[in-house]
Amino acid sequence: MRFTVAIDGPAAAGKGTIGRAVADHFGFAHLDTGLLYRAVGARMLRGERAEDAALALTPEDLADPDALRAPDVAQAASKVAVIPEVRDALLAFQRAFAHRIGGAVLDGRDIGTVICPRAEVKLFVTASAEVRAKRRLDELMGRGLEAEYDTVLADVRARDARDTERATAPMIAADDALTLDTSEMSAEAAIAAAIAAVQSRK
Ligand code: C5P
Repeated sequence: MRFTVAIDGPAAAGKGTIGRAVADHFGFAHLDTGLLYRAVGARMLRGERAEDAALALTPEDLADPDALRAPDVAQAASKVAVIPEVRDALLAFQRAFAHRIGGAVLDGRDIGTVICPRAEVKLFVTASAEVRAKRRLDELMGRGLEAEYDTVLADVRARDARDTERATAPMIAADDALTLDTSEMSAEAAIAAAIAAVQSRK
């Protein structure tokens, strides 16, 4: 059985938490597509051309997700993500993942609009920039990294602007997506709403 759940939305809105929980619940595979852009961003920070890095990406580039979650890599990811050749180079892998037998959940910015426009379920997970900055701050501090709220908020806003304003595959809710605003929702409530949305389409 093929069944694709597309989850899009801005940084730290809860896509990853919801995506993992939905995948666990239904026994689907899960792909955090942001990691692909982060891996390209990390290679660019090491001096490589982003277009070349995207074409040369290997599973080893994804082997250390914690390193890829560093704030400078996040900013680099959103810079390489505006380059059409980079997005093209990552497209086939994401589509192939979505077509896995047994079901797949992909989260990112353009899954419901570009990568999997025919996904059975589309969710757009969002929250206010302030709430997302607070969540990202807690996550960074929980990992023992130093961070300040104002800096994290500025980073979130800069990334939101680049992701929504770019010409190729901008972040936008698909017309047929269900929007979940998690600003005042617990993770449990958001996960329950997402599972119910998938269940209703199965
Ligand atoms: O989701 P995450 O914060 O890890 O994504 C890092 C960056 O990668 C985003 O800010 C965005 O610019 C880019 N991205 C994208 N399309 C996706 C996933 C991520 O452009 N499907």
